[in-house]
Amino acid sequence: MILSIESSCDDSSIAITKIENNKLIFHKKISQEIEHSSYGGVVPELASRLHAIDLPNILEECKPYFDELKAVAVTNQPGLGVTLLEGIAMAKTIAVTLNIPLIEVHHLKGHIYSLFIEKEEILPLLVLLISGGHTQIIRVESFEKMTILATSIDDSVGESFDKTAKMMGLGYPGGPIIEKLAKNGDENRFDLPVPLRNSKLIAFSLSGLKNAVRLTIESLGGSENMSQQDRCDLSASFQKAVKLHLIQKSKKIFEKEKIKDFAIVGGASANIYIREAYEELCKKFGKRVHTAPLKFCSDNAGMIGRYAIEAYKKKLFVDAYEIEVIHTKKREAGSIL
Ligand code: KG4
Ligand code: ZN
Repeated sequence: MILSIESSCDDSSIAITKIENNKLIFHKKISQEIEHSSYGGVVPELASRLHAIDLPNILEECKPYFDELKAVAVTNQPGLGVTLLEGIAMAKTIAVTLNIPLIEVHHLKGHIYSLFIEKEEILPLLVLLISGGHTQIIRVESFEKMTILATSIDDSVGESFDKTAKMMGLGYPGGPIIEKLAKNGDENRFDLPVPLRNSKLIAFSLSGLKNAVRLTIESLGGSENMSQQDRCDLSASFQKAVKLHLIQKSKKIFEKEKIKDFAIVGGASANIYIREAYEELCKKFGKRVHTAPLKFCSDNAGMIGRYAIEAYKKKLFVDAYEIEVIHTKKREAGSIL
């Protein structure tokens, strides 16, 4: 079995996965959403302190499996340095005291492997990754070869939902709040710009849309003067512009990429409105759509464990005294993830 730890942002999570059949034997996650909610976003120092409390509490429940552990895996990039360190310190200690190998996991590759929890890999695969930190389309040819085809030049999808919610004086995370309000809103009430609509660039950008949302809120007299219907209509109009932007750029990629399997992963892949738009697009292009179960869309250690099984089979281990947080540089389209 492999014990995996995830602490890249505001979720403390540990999983135990069986190597021979990909089964998830144990999985627990403690989210810090309530603690960060009043700040409208994640406060790194607070997140780090909460991981230091929650991770050992979850680990306590894993003790019965300690004798059967063959390896320990941990996310070491990308994420918040101070929170990644909490998971790494724990993983290092386990590796050294139990004398088992240590596996480092790239968080975004973990999101891709969320699709394969308790399943076999589906490869090759085209993936749209929409999370709090990233918007990317990735061509996954194999475990080793994942190429970024398009990436964001500013705010990510999740971040734009979070900021829109914050500007309207709503809580964190913004994604589920906006999606829910949008259900009762008129998506055609506010004519928000679809980002990069007239640009040939195959990239994602949401900061311009964020500014348009801000100006709309100002024109309504500020968030405190908005009615509930205003909030619903703005949420729906914003969500529609995000969808049109994602679909327009994805279509350009679909015209070139012949891979039949397409997947949406990451926290924002829980959004049903966006999922439905992709189902329609994939139908036109003859592609199959894959998504992870809702509970594995947002950050979790189950996906880290699933990736770690493949890394274990390839003996991709790292020295427990040398593992560190990798401060990921922004990767451009064309580069390997
Ligand atoms: O993947 P994730 O848990 O963490 C990162 O790796 O960043 O993604 C969290 C992000 C947050 O920005 C959250 O607002 C967004 O995913 N999210 C959503 C929805 N549920 C979560 N965005 C849009 N619609 C949703 N239903
Ligand atoms: Zn994530």
